[in-house]
Amino acid sequence: MILLDRLNIKHPIFLAPMAGVSTPELAAEVTNQGGLGSLGIGASSIESARTQILRTKQLTDGAFQLNFFCHAPTELNISENTAWIQNITPHFEKFGAVPPRELKCIYPSFLDDDEFLNLVLETQPKAVSFHFGIPHAYQIQQLKDADIITMVSATNLAEALAIEAAGIDIIIAQGIEAGGHRGIFNQTFDAAIKTADLVQLIKQHCSLPIVAAGGIMNGQQAKTMLNFGAEAVQLGTAFVQCKTSSANVAYRQALFNHPLTQITASISGRPARGLINHWHTQVDLPNRPHVAAYPYAYDLAKQLNLLALKNGDNGYGAFWAGSNVAQIRKLEAPDLINQLVLEMNQC
Ligand SMILES: Cc1cc2nc3c(=O)[nH]c(=O)nc-3n(C[C@H](O)[C@H](O)[C@H](O)COP(=O)(O)O)c2cc1C
Repeated sequence: MILLDRLNIKHPIFLAPMAGVSTPELAAEVTNQGGLGSLGIGASSIESARTQILRTKQLTDGAFQLNFFCHAPTELNISENTAWIQNITPHFEKFGAVPPRELKCIYPSFLDDDEFLNLVLETQPKAVSFHFGIPHAYQIQQLKDADIITMVSATNLAEALAIEAAGIDIIIAQGIEAGGHRGIFNQTFDAAIKTADLVQLIKQHCSLPIVAAGGIMNGQQAKTMLNFGAEAVQLGTAFVQCKTSSANVAYRQALFNHPLTQITASISGRPARGLINHWHTQVDLPNRPHVAAYPYAYDLAKQLNLLALKNGDNGYGAFWAGSNVAQIRKLEAPDLINQLVLEMNQC
C-alpha cells in the first residue's frame, strides 16, 4: 500500500499517540514490530518532549510519529473559571482541602508559537499528527519542506475537507467510539459519527489516505475499516494495558474490571471518553454549570486527582478508554501487533 511505503512501515497499524500514557519504550516496540509507533507529547514541556524523542530514537531506527494539540487559543475567563472552581470546591473539601483560587493554561497549543515546530524540525520524525485543529499554513509548509508527513484528526466531513484543503497528507478519521479527547475543532459542535460511517463518508468526499481510529480492538474490526476504505487503523485503548505504557496500577485494573465508558468535558474542558468514575457520577450532574475552558479545567482536575490519590481515592483520574474497552486483551505490544495481523489475515 502507498501509505505503508511512504511511512516505511510493514503493517497498517498505528499506535495512537496518548499524552500521559505514551512512552518511548511503547512507541519503539510498536515500530520495531512493523507498526507506526507514536509519542503523544502535546502535554509535555519542550525539554521532556526532546528527551522522549531522543530516547525513542535510541530504541528504534524505524518510523514513528509525534503528536501535538492544535487547539484555538482560549482567552482567560476569570468569572467562568471561578464559577467552575466553586462547583468543584466540595470535592476538595471532602479531603479537608481548599481548591486553587486561579486556574492556569497548562497546555500550550502548537499554534501559539514555534517552539514545538522547531523541535520537530530539529528531531526530524517520519510523521507528525495534530489533534483539535490544523497548524498554520506556514507551519505546514515548513514540515513539508522538511519531508515530514503530516496528519490531522477529523471527526466529521467538514473537518476532513478543511484538512485536505490545508495540504495535510493523511486524515485520521476519529469516530465517536474513540477513547480520549474528541478531536473536534469546534467545541460547541460534535457530529458524533461512528468510526465505520466516518471512514466511508470521508472516502466518498476526499482523496487523502484515511486512518480509522475509534473502538478498534481486534483484527476483524481493523479489517472491516480497511474494507471501508481506510489505509490503516490507529488503536489507543488496546495498548494502554501494555507494561511499557505509563498507565498507573488503578487505571490498568479498571480497564479489566467490567469497564464502561462515557464522554465528559468536566475533566479537561473538552469532551473526552473515559472509564466511568466520580467525574461522570458526581460532577456531571444535570444542574452542573458550564465547565471552565480547556485546558483551564484540566488544571483543576489534575490538582483534585493528586489530592484524591494521596487520600487513597482513584475516582478522579482521567482513565481515557474507548467504548469497546470491554474487548481489551492482556497482550504486550509486539504480541498485540502479531495477533492483530494474524486476525486481519484470517478475514
Ligand atoms: C489514554 C488515551 C490518550 C489519548 N491521548 C491522545 C493524544 O494525546 N493525542 C491524540 O491525538 N489522540 C489521543 N487519544 C485518542 C487516540 O488518538 C485515538 O483517537 C483513540 O485512542 C482511538 O480509539 P480507541 O481508544 O478506542 O482505540 C488518546 C486516547 C487514549 C485512549
